[in-house]
Amino acid sequence: DLLTEIKSLEEAFTVDTTKLKQITKHFVSELEKGLSVEGGSIPMNPTWVMDFPDGYETGTYLALDMGGTNLRVCEITLTNNKSEFDIVQSKYRMPEELKTGHSEELWEYIADCLQQFVETQRSDKAPVQGKIPLGFTFSYPATQNYIDEGILQRWTKGFDIDGVEGENVVPMLDAALAQRGVPIVVSALINDTTGTLIASAYTDPKMKIGCIFGTGCNAAYMEHCGSIPKLAHMNLPADMPMAINCEWGAFDNEHKILPRTKYDIIIDKESPRPGQQAFEKCIAGLYLGEIFRLIMVDLHDNKDVHIFEGQDIKHLRKPYTLDASFLSAIEDDPFENLQETADLFKDKLQLTCTQPELELIRRAAELIGTRAARLSACGVAAICTKKNLQPCHVGADGSVFNKYPHFKARGAQALREILDWPAKSNASEEDPVEILAAEDGSGVGAALIAALTLKRFSKGD
Ligand code: BG6
Ligand code: GLC
Repeated sequence: DLLTEIKSLEEAFTVDTTKLKQITKHFVSELEKGLSVEGGSIPMNPTWVMDFPDGYETGTYLALDMGGTNLRVCEITLTNNKSEFDIVQSKYRMPEELKTGHSEELWEYIADCLQQFVETQRSDKAPVQGKIPLGFTFSYPATQNYIDEGILQRWTKGFDIDGVEGENVVPMLDAALAQRGVPIVVSALINDTTGTLIASAYTDPKMKIGCIFGTGCNAAYMEHCGSIPKLAHMNLPADMPMAINCEWGAFDNEHKILPRTKYDIIIDKESPRPGQQAFEKCIAGLYLGEIFRLIMVDLHDNKDVHIFEGQDIKHLRKPYTLDASFLSAIEDDPFENLQETADLFKDKLQLTCTQPELELIRRAAELIGTRAARLSACGVAAICTKKNLQPCHVGADGSVFNKYPHFKARGAQALREILDWPAKSNASEEDPVEILAAEDGSGVGAALIAALTLKRFSKGD
Protein backbone atom coordinates (compact mmCIF):
# COMPACT_ATOMS: atom_id res chain seq x y z
CA ASP A 1 0.00 0.00 0.00
CA LEU A 2 0.95 3.64 -0.18
CA LEU A 3 2.15 3.74 3.43
CA THR A 4 4.99 1.41 2.47
CA GLU A 5 5.92 3.78 -0.35
CA ILE A 6 5.89 6.74 2.04
CA LYS A 7 8.23 4.82 4.34
CA SER A 8 10.74 4.10 1.62
CA LEU A 9 10.66 7.72 0.44
CA GLU A 10 11.30 8.78 4.03
CA GLU A 11 14.30 6.50 4.19
CA ALA A 12 15.71 7.78 0.92
CA PHE A 13 15.23 11.50 1.59
CA THR A 14 15.84 11.92 5.32
CA VAL A 15 19.23 13.34 6.27
CA ASP A 16 19.83 12.87 9.99
CA THR A 17 22.11 14.92 12.24
CA THR A 18 25.05 12.54 11.97
CA LYS A 19 24.96 12.67 8.19
CA LEU A 20 24.61 16.48 8.20
CA LYS A 21 27.74 16.69 10.34
CA GLN A 22 29.67 14.34 8.05
CA ILE A 23 28.64 16.36 4.99
CA THR A 24 29.67 19.61 6.68
CA LYS A 25 33.07 18.22 7.64
CA HIS A 26 33.74 17.11 4.08
CA PHE A 27 32.43 20.47 2.82
CA VAL A 28 35.03 22.36 4.91
CA SER A 29 37.84 20.35 3.34
CA GLU A 30 36.40 20.87 -0.15
CA LEU A 31 36.30 24.66 0.40
CA GLU A 32 40.00 24.49 1.32
CA LYS A 33 40.76 22.34 -1.69
CA GLY A 34 39.07 24.83 -4.00
CA LEU A 35 41.44 27.55 -2.74
CA SER A 36 44.53 25.40 -3.24
CA VAL A 37 46.81 25.41 -6.29
CA GLU A 38 45.61 21.96 -7.38
CA GLY A 39 41.98 23.00 -6.95
CA GLY A 40 38.99 20.77 -6.35
CA SER A 41 35.47 20.49 -7.64
CA ILE A 42 34.23 23.63 -5.83
CA PRO A 43 35.73 26.45 -7.95
CA MET A 44 36.18 29.05 -5.10
CA ASN A 45 36.51 31.88 -7.60
CA PRO A 46 38.34 35.05 -6.53
CA THR A 47 36.12 37.97 -7.52
CA TRP A 48 38.43 40.98 -7.07
CA VAL A 49 35.84 42.53 -4.80
CA MET A 50 38.33 43.51 -2.12
CA ASP A 51 36.48 45.68 0.30
CA PHE A 52 33.24 46.13 2.11
CA PRO A 53 31.59 49.48 1.39
CA ASP A 54 32.15 52.14 4.04
CA GLY A 55 28.76 53.77 3.59
CA TYR A 56 30.16 56.84 1.85
CA GLU A 57 29.68 55.52 -1.67
CA THR A 58 27.68 57.89 -3.84
CA GLY A 59 26.71 58.22 -7.48
CA THR A 60 24.37 56.74 -10.05
CA TYR A 61 25.08 53.34 -11.57
CA LEU A 62 23.43 50.94 -13.95
CA ALA A 63 23.09 47.30 -13.03
CA LEU A 64 22.18 44.36 -15.18
CA ASP A 65 21.04 41.18 -13.49
CA MET A 66 21.16 38.03 -15.58
CA GLY A 67 19.96 35.30 -13.21
CA GLY A 68 18.35 32.04 -14.25
CA THR A 69 14.84 33.28 -14.77
CA ASN A 70 14.64 37.03 -15.19
CA LEU A 71 16.69 39.77 -16.73
CA ARG A 72 16.55 42.97 -14.74
CA VAL A 73 18.01 46.37 -15.54
CA CYS A 74 18.30 48.89 -12.70
CA GLU A 75 19.53 52.39 -12.18
CA ILE A 76 20.64 52.88 -8.60
CA THR A 77 21.48 56.14 -6.95
CA LEU A 78 23.55 55.79 -3.78
CA THR A 79 23.44 58.61 -1.28
CA ASN A 80 25.50 59.00 1.89
CA ASN A 81 22.60 57.54 3.79
CA LYS A 82 22.74 53.72 3.73
CA SER A 83 19.04 53.21 4.18
CA GLU A 84 18.20 55.51 1.29
CA PHE A 85 18.99 54.34 -2.18
CA ASP A 86 16.82 55.02 -5.18
CA ILE A 87 16.15 52.27 -7.66
CA VAL A 88 14.43 52.52 -11.02
CA GLN A 89 14.11 49.11 -12.65
CA SER A 90 12.64 47.15 -15.53
CA LYS A 91 12.22 43.38 -15.55
CA TYR A 92 12.29 41.25 -18.68
CA ARG A 93 11.56 37.54 -18.84
CA MET A 94 14.49 35.52 -20.26
CA PRO A 95 12.91 33.84 -23.29
CA GLU A 96 13.12 30.08 -22.81
CA GLU A 97 14.64 29.48 -26.28
CA LEU A 98 17.56 31.83 -25.51
CA LYS A 99 18.75 29.46 -22.79
CA THR A 100 19.69 26.81 -25.32
CA GLY A 101 20.36 29.03 -28.34
CA HIS A 102 23.45 30.77 -29.70
CA SER A 103 25.73 33.31 -28.13
CA GLU A 104 24.87 36.23 -30.49
CA GLU A 105 21.14 35.93 -29.76
CA LEU A 106 21.82 36.18 -26.04
CA TRP A 107 23.96 39.34 -26.25
CA GLU A 108 21.63 40.94 -28.78
CA TYR A 109 18.65 40.37 -26.53
CA ILE A 110 20.46 41.79 -23.49
CA ALA A 111 21.79 44.79 -25.43
CA ASP A 112 18.25 45.51 -26.70
CA CYS A 113 16.90 45.48 -23.14
CA LEU A 114 19.68 47.83 -21.99
CA GLN A 115 19.12 50.14 -24.95
CA GLN A 116 15.41 50.30 -24.24
CA PHE A 117 16.09 51.06 -20.58
CA VAL A 118 18.61 53.81 -21.30
CA GLU A 119 16.31 55.44 -23.84
CA THR A 120 13.14 55.32 -21.77
CA GLN A 121 13.81 54.77 -18.06
CA ARG A 122 16.93 56.71 -17.11
CA SER A 123 16.10 59.31 -14.48
CA ASP A 124 18.60 61.79 -15.94
CA LYS A 125 17.28 62.66 -19.36
CA ALA A 126 20.33 64.80 -20.25
CA PRO A 127 22.42 63.44 -23.14
CA VAL A 128 24.99 60.96 -21.90
CA GLN A 129 28.57 62.29 -21.73
CA GLY A 130 31.03 59.44 -22.16
CA LYS A 131 29.89 55.99 -21.12
CA ILE A 132 27.72 54.95 -18.22
CA PRO A 133 29.40 52.36 -15.93
CA LEU A 134 27.47 49.12 -15.60
CA GLY A 135 27.69 46.47 -12.87
CA PHE A 136 26.89 43.19 -14.64
CA THR A 137 25.56 40.45 -12.38
CA PHE A 138 26.36 37.31 -14.33
CA SER A 139 25.34 34.47 -12.04
CA TYR A 140 27.34 31.57 -13.42
CA PRO A 141 30.82 30.29 -12.55
CA ALA A 142 33.37 32.62 -14.12
CA THR A 143 37.14 32.93 -13.91
CA GLN A 144 38.16 36.51 -13.22
CA ASN A 145 41.67 37.86 -13.51
CA TYR A 146 40.22 41.36 -13.22
CA ILE A 147 36.94 42.64 -11.89
CA ASP A 148 35.74 43.53 -15.39
CA GLU A 149 36.43 40.10 -16.81
CA GLY A 150 34.44 36.88 -16.63
CA ILE A 151 35.50 33.76 -18.47
CA LEU A 152 32.56 31.39 -18.27
CA GLN A 153 33.73 28.09 -16.77
CA ARG A 154 30.51 26.26 -17.63
CA TRP A 155 26.82 26.98 -17.85
CA THR A 156 24.69 25.97 -14.87
CA LYS A 157 20.94 26.12 -14.09
CA GLY A 158 19.97 24.33 -17.30
CA PHE A 159 21.55 26.91 -19.63
CA ASP A 160 23.31 25.55 -22.68
CA ILE A 161 24.20 28.41 -25.01
CA ASP A 162 26.79 27.71 -27.70
CA GLY A 163 29.96 29.70 -28.00
CA VAL A 164 30.23 31.15 -24.50
CA GLU A 165 31.95 28.55 -22.31
CA GLY A 166 35.66 29.30 -22.08
CA GLU A 167 35.12 32.86 -23.34
CA ASN A 168 35.23 36.23 -21.61
CA VAL A 169 31.62 37.45 -21.64
CA VAL A 170 32.42 41.14 -21.07
CA PRO A 171 33.72 41.95 -24.58
CA MET A 172 30.75 40.05 -26.02
CA LEU A 173 28.28 42.30 -24.24
CA ASP A 174 30.40 45.41 -24.86
CA ALA A 175 30.46 44.62 -28.60
CA ALA A 176 26.67 44.17 -28.82
CA LEU A 177 26.24 47.51 -27.01
CA ALA A 178 28.77 49.31 -29.22
CA GLN A 179 27.07 47.97 -32.34
CA ARG A 180 23.84 49.65 -31.23
CA GLY A 181 25.62 52.80 -30.09
CA VAL A 182 24.41 52.26 -26.51
CA PRO A 183 26.68 54.41 -24.27
CA ILE A 184 27.38 51.79 -21.60
CA VAL A 185 30.57 50.07 -20.55
CA VAL A 186 30.78 47.06 -18.23
CA SER A 187 32.90 48.21 -15.28
CA ALA A 188 32.43 45.19 -12.99
CA LEU A 189 31.24 41.64 -13.45
CA ILE A 190 29.80 40.14 -10.30
CA ASN A 191 28.05 37.02 -9.10
CA ASP A 192 24.62 37.31 -7.44
CA THR A 193 26.09 35.88 -4.20
CA THR A 194 28.89 38.47 -4.11
CA GLY A 195 26.34 41.23 -4.72
CA THR A 196 24.19 39.81 -1.94
CA LEU A 197 27.16 39.71 0.44
CA ILE A 198 28.16 43.31 -0.27
CA ALA A 199 24.64 44.76 -0.27
CA SER A 200 23.78 42.97 2.97
CA ALA A 201 26.97 44.00 4.75
CA TYR A 202 26.26 47.60 3.70
CA THR A 203 23.20 47.80 5.92
CA ASP A 204 24.18 45.15 8.51
CA PRO A 205 27.91 44.83 9.31
CA LYS A 206 27.25 41.46 11.00
CA MET A 207 26.54 39.96 7.55
CA LYS A 208 29.51 37.75 6.63
CA ILE A 209 28.09 35.41 3.98
CA GLY A 210 25.86 36.05 0.97
CA CYS A 211 23.71 33.13 -0.20
CA ILE A 212 21.31 32.47 -3.03
CA PHE A 213 18.65 29.79 -2.66
CA GLY A 214 16.74 30.20 -5.90
CA THR A 215 16.82 28.66 -9.37
CA GLY A 216 20.42 27.83 -8.40
CA CYS A 217 22.15 27.65 -5.05
CA ASN A 218 25.48 29.25 -4.08
CA ALA A 219 27.36 31.43 -1.57
CA ALA A 220 30.11 34.05 -1.29
CA TYR A 221 32.19 35.20 1.69
CA MET A 222 35.25 37.32 2.37
CA GLU A 223 38.57 35.44 2.49
CA HIS A 224 42.07 36.76 3.21
CA CYS A 225 44.51 36.63 0.30
CA GLY A 226 47.00 34.87 2.61
CA SER A 227 44.55 31.94 2.81
CA ILE A 228 44.22 31.58 -0.97
CA PRO A 229 47.25 29.51 -2.05
CA LYS A 230 46.22 29.65 -5.70
CA LEU A 231 46.82 33.44 -5.64
CA ALA A 232 50.19 33.19 -3.83
CA HIS A 233 52.11 33.88 -7.07
CA MET A 234 50.59 37.37 -7.13
CA ASN A 235 52.24 38.38 -3.83
CA LEU A 236 49.15 40.14 -2.52
CA PRO A 237 49.28 41.25 1.13
CA ALA A 238 48.21 38.30 3.34
CA ASP A 239 45.61 40.34 5.22
CA MET A 240 44.04 41.81 2.09
CA PRO A 241 40.37 40.80 1.84
CA MET A 242 39.02 39.08 -1.28
CA ALA A 243 35.42 38.03 -1.81
CA ILE A 244 35.23 34.41 -2.94
CA ASN A 245 32.35 33.18 -5.06
CA CYS A 246 32.34 29.56 -3.88
CA GLU A 247 30.15 28.05 -6.63
CA TRP A 248 29.31 25.46 -4.03
CA GLY A 249 26.65 23.97 -6.31
CA ALA A 250 29.56 21.81 -7.51
CA PHE A 251 30.11 20.30 -4.05
CA ASP A 252 30.41 16.50 -4.17
CA ASN A 253 30.50 16.15 -7.95
CA GLU A 254 32.52 13.00 -7.12
CA HIS A 255 29.45 11.59 -5.26
CA LYS A 256 31.43 10.78 -2.14
CA ILE A 257 29.10 11.95 0.59
CA LEU A 258 25.68 13.26 -0.43
CA PRO A 259 22.84 10.79 -0.07
CA ARG A 260 21.68 10.19 -3.65
CA THR A 261 18.33 8.76 -4.60
CA LYS A 262 17.55 7.15 -7.93
CA TYR A 263 15.71 10.37 -8.78
CA ASP A 264 18.87 12.47 -8.29
CA ILE A 265 20.68 10.12 -10.63
CA ILE A 266 18.06 10.63 -13.36
CA ILE A 267 18.05 14.43 -12.89
CA ASP A 268 21.79 14.44 -13.40
CA LYS A 269 21.78 12.10 -16.37
CA GLU A 270 19.07 14.02 -18.22
CA SER A 271 20.57 17.48 -17.54
CA PRO A 272 22.61 19.35 -20.18
CA ARG A 273 25.70 18.97 -17.92
CA PRO A 274 25.78 15.47 -16.35
CA GLY A 275 28.31 15.11 -13.57
CA GLN A 276 28.16 18.83 -12.69
CA GLN A 277 26.46 20.72 -9.82
CA ALA A 278 25.73 17.63 -7.69
CA PHE A 279 24.85 19.67 -4.58
CA GLU A 280 22.78 22.22 -6.51
CA LYS A 281 20.74 19.47 -8.17
CA CYS A 282 19.49 18.33 -4.72
CA ILE A 283 18.63 21.80 -3.48
CA ALA A 284 17.89 24.43 -6.09
CA GLY A 285 14.43 25.54 -7.18
CA LEU A 286 15.05 24.47 -10.75
CA TYR A 287 15.14 20.82 -9.68
CA LEU A 288 12.70 20.49 -6.75
CA GLY A 289 9.57 20.09 -8.87
CA GLU A 290 11.37 17.72 -11.22
CA ILE A 291 12.46 15.44 -8.36
CA PHE A 292 8.82 15.33 -7.27
CA ARG A 293 7.60 14.58 -10.80
CA LEU A 294 10.09 11.73 -11.18
CA ILE A 295 8.85 10.16 -7.93
CA MET A 296 5.24 10.33 -9.08
CA VAL A 297 6.00 8.80 -12.51
CA ASP A 298 8.11 6.07 -10.92
CA LEU A 299 5.37 5.10 -8.48
CA HIS A 300 2.75 5.09 -11.23
CA ASP A 301 4.90 2.89 -13.46
CA ASN A 302 5.55 0.43 -10.65
CA LYS A 303 2.88 -2.20 -11.11
CA ASP A 304 2.92 -3.07 -7.41
CA VAL A 305 1.99 0.47 -6.44
CA HIS A 306 -1.46 1.62 -7.35
CA ILE A 307 -1.30 5.33 -7.90
CA PHE A 308 -3.35 7.31 -10.45
CA GLU A 309 -4.64 3.90 -11.50
CA GLY A 310 -6.40 3.76 -14.84
CA GLN A 311 -5.60 7.45 -15.53
CA ASP A 312 -3.53 8.83 -18.38
CA ILE A 313 -0.46 10.53 -16.86
CA LYS A 314 0.74 12.10 -20.13
CA HIS A 315 0.95 15.61 -18.62
CA LEU A 316 2.98 14.31 -15.71
CA ARG A 317 5.39 12.64 -18.13
CA LYS A 318 6.63 15.95 -19.49
CA PRO A 319 10.07 16.80 -17.98
CA TYR A 320 10.30 20.02 -15.95
CA THR A 321 6.57 20.57 -16.17
CA LEU A 322 6.33 21.22 -12.42
CA ASP A 323 8.35 24.02 -10.86
CA ALA A 324 9.16 24.72 -7.22
CA SER A 325 6.04 26.87 -6.86
CA PHE A 326 3.96 23.72 -7.47
CA LEU A 327 5.64 22.04 -4.49
CA SER A 328 5.27 25.24 -2.46
CA ALA A 329 1.54 25.20 -3.11
CA ILE A 330 1.27 21.56 -1.97
CA GLU A 331 3.19 22.31 1.23
CA ASP A 332 1.05 25.39 1.79
CA ASP A 333 -2.28 23.57 1.42
CA PRO A 334 -4.14 24.55 4.61
CA PHE A 335 -6.89 21.96 4.35
CA GLU A 336 -6.97 18.75 6.34
CA ASN A 337 -8.31 16.91 3.28
CA LEU A 338 -5.69 18.56 1.00
CA GLN A 339 -8.38 20.01 -1.22
CA GLU A 340 -6.06 22.59 -2.79
CA THR A 341 -3.60 19.87 -3.74
CA ALA A 342 -6.42 17.86 -5.30
CA ASP A 343 -7.43 20.96 -7.33
CA LEU A 344 -3.83 21.53 -8.41
CA PHE A 345 -3.51 17.99 -9.72
CA LYS A 346 -6.79 18.29 -11.53
CA ASP A 347 -6.06 21.69 -13.12
CA LYS A 348 -2.43 21.23 -14.00
CA LEU A 349 -2.16 17.50 -14.65
CA GLN A 350 -5.72 16.40 -15.26
CA LEU A 351 -5.41 13.77 -12.55
CA THR A 352 -7.92 12.87 -9.86
CA CYS A 353 -6.37 11.87 -6.55
CA THR A 354 -7.69 9.67 -3.75
CA GLN A 355 -7.14 10.69 -0.13
CA PRO A 356 -4.20 8.26 0.41
CA GLU A 357 -2.63 9.55 -2.83
CA LEU A 358 -2.96 13.13 -1.60
CA GLU A 359 -1.27 12.18 1.63
CA LEU A 360 1.60 10.58 -0.21
CA ILE A 361 1.90 13.68 -2.44
CA ARG A 362 2.08 15.99 0.57
CA ARG A 363 4.67 13.82 2.31
CA ALA A 364 6.81 13.62 -0.84
CA ALA A 365 6.78 17.41 -1.13
CA GLU A 366 7.73 17.79 2.54
CA LEU A 367 10.58 15.33 2.18
CA ILE A 368 12.03 17.06 -0.89
CA GLY A 369 11.68 20.55 0.65
CA THR A 370 13.14 19.44 3.98
CA ARG A 371 16.12 17.70 2.41
CA ALA A 372 16.87 20.82 0.35
CA ALA A 373 16.81 23.09 3.41
CA ARG A 374 18.88 20.74 5.55
CA LEU A 375 21.54 20.14 2.90
CA SER A 376 21.81 23.90 2.27
CA ALA A 377 22.57 24.39 5.95
CA CYS A 378 25.68 22.21 5.54
CA GLY A 379 27.19 24.78 3.17
CA VAL A 380 26.50 27.66 5.54
CA ALA A 381 27.84 25.68 8.51
CA ALA A 382 30.98 24.78 6.52
CA ILE A 383 31.86 28.42 5.75
CA CYS A 384 31.12 29.44 9.36
CA THR A 385 33.37 26.63 10.61
CA LYS A 386 36.18 27.32 8.16
CA LYS A 387 36.24 31.04 8.93
CA ASN A 388 35.26 30.77 12.60
CA LEU A 389 32.39 33.16 11.96
CA GLN A 390 30.08 32.52 14.90
CA PRO A 391 28.28 34.75 15.75
CA CYS A 392 27.28 36.24 12.40
CA HIS A 393 24.44 36.98 10.03
CA VAL A 394 24.02 35.41 6.61
CA GLY A 395 22.18 37.36 3.89
CA ALA A 396 20.02 35.18 1.66
CA ASP A 397 18.00 35.85 -1.47
CA GLY A 398 16.25 33.82 -4.15
CA SER A 399 12.79 32.39 -4.75
CA VAL A 400 13.28 29.28 -2.63
CA PHE A 401 14.48 31.25 0.39
CA ASN A 402 11.82 33.91 0.02
CA LYS A 403 8.84 31.82 -1.00
CA TYR A 404 9.21 28.12 -0.23
CA PRO A 405 7.21 27.25 2.92
CA HIS A 406 9.26 26.39 6.04
CA PHE A 407 12.59 26.60 4.16
CA LYS A 408 13.99 29.11 6.66
CA ALA A 409 12.85 27.24 9.78
CA ARG A 410 14.08 23.90 8.44
CA GLY A 411 17.46 25.40 7.55
CA ALA A 412 17.77 27.03 10.99
CA GLN A 413 16.92 23.73 12.69
CA ALA A 414 19.60 21.92 10.68
CA LEU A 415 22.20 24.58 11.55
CA ARG A 416 21.35 24.10 15.21
CA GLU A 417 21.95 20.35 14.89
CA ILE A 418 25.18 20.69 12.93
CA LEU A 419 26.74 23.38 15.09
CA ASP A 420 25.50 21.91 18.41
CA TRP A 421 23.89 25.01 19.84
CA PRO A 422 22.10 24.71 23.17
CA ALA A 423 18.33 25.32 23.13
CA LYS A 424 17.37 29.01 23.21
CA SER A 425 16.27 30.32 26.58
CA ASN A 426 13.57 32.44 24.92
CA ALA A 427 12.10 32.63 21.44
CA SER A 428 13.37 36.15 20.72
CA GLU A 429 17.01 35.18 21.37
CA GLU A 430 19.14 35.06 18.21
CA ASP A 431 20.92 31.90 17.10
CA PRO A 432 24.73 32.29 16.80
CA VAL A 433 24.25 32.18 13.01
CA GLU A 434 21.07 33.70 11.62
CA ILE A 435 20.15 33.42 7.94
CA LEU A 436 18.18 36.56 7.08
CA ALA A 437 16.60 38.08 3.99
CA ALA A 438 19.24 40.03 2.10
CA GLU A 439 19.28 43.44 0.50
CA ASP A 440 18.95 43.46 -3.27
CA GLY A 441 22.39 42.18 -4.21
CA SER A 442 22.12 42.54 -7.93
CA GLY A 443 20.80 46.08 -7.69
CA VAL A 444 22.36 47.77 -4.68
CA GLY A 445 25.20 45.24 -4.46
CA ALA A 446 26.16 45.68 -8.11
CA ALA A 447 26.04 49.48 -7.74
CA LEU A 448 28.21 49.36 -4.60
CA ILE A 449 30.75 47.13 -6.32
CA ALA A 450 30.83 49.44 -9.35
CA ALA A 451 31.40 52.34 -6.91
CA LEU A 452 34.12 50.46 -5.00
CA THR A 453 35.83 49.60 -8.28
CA LEU A 454 35.89 53.21 -9.44
CA LYS A 455 37.17 54.26 -6.01
CA ARG A 456 39.93 51.61 -6.12
CA PHE A 457 41.05 52.66 -9.59
CA SER A 458 40.96 56.35 -8.69
CA LYS A 459 43.32 55.51 -5.81
CA GLY A 460 45.65 54.12 -8.45
CA ASP A 461 45.65 50.40 -7.45
C1 BG6 B 1 17.13 37.90 -7.25
C2 BG6 B 1 18.46 38.56 -7.53
O1 BG6 B 1 16.49 38.57 -6.24
O2 BG6 B 1 17.37 36.57 -6.86
C3 BG6 B 1 19.22 37.77 -8.60
O3 BG6 B 1 18.23 39.85 -8.02
C4 BG6 B 1 19.35 36.34 -8.17
O4 BG6 B 1 20.49 38.31 -8.81
C5 BG6 B 1 17.99 35.80 -7.88
O5 BG6 B 1 20.00 35.60 -9.20
C6 BG6 B 1 18.02 34.39 -7.44
O6 BG6 B 1 16.72 33.90 -7.30
P1 BG6 B 1 15.95 33.13 -8.45
O7 BG6 B 1 14.91 32.44 -7.69
O8 BG6 B 1 15.43 34.16 -9.41
O9 BG6 B 1 16.97 32.23 -9.07
C1 GLC C 1 24.29 28.70 -9.96
C2 GLC C 1 25.41 29.54 -10.56
C3 GLC C 1 25.94 30.52 -9.53
C4 GLC C 1 24.81 31.32 -8.93
C5 GLC C 1 23.73 30.41 -8.39
C6 GLC C 1 22.53 31.18 -7.84
O1 GLC C 1 24.84 27.91 -8.95
O2 GLC C 1 26.44 28.71 -11.02
O3 GLC C 1 26.88 31.39 -10.13
O4 GLC C 1 25.31 32.13 -7.91
O5 GLC C 1 23.28 29.53 -9.41
O6 GLC C 1 21.94 31.99 -8.82
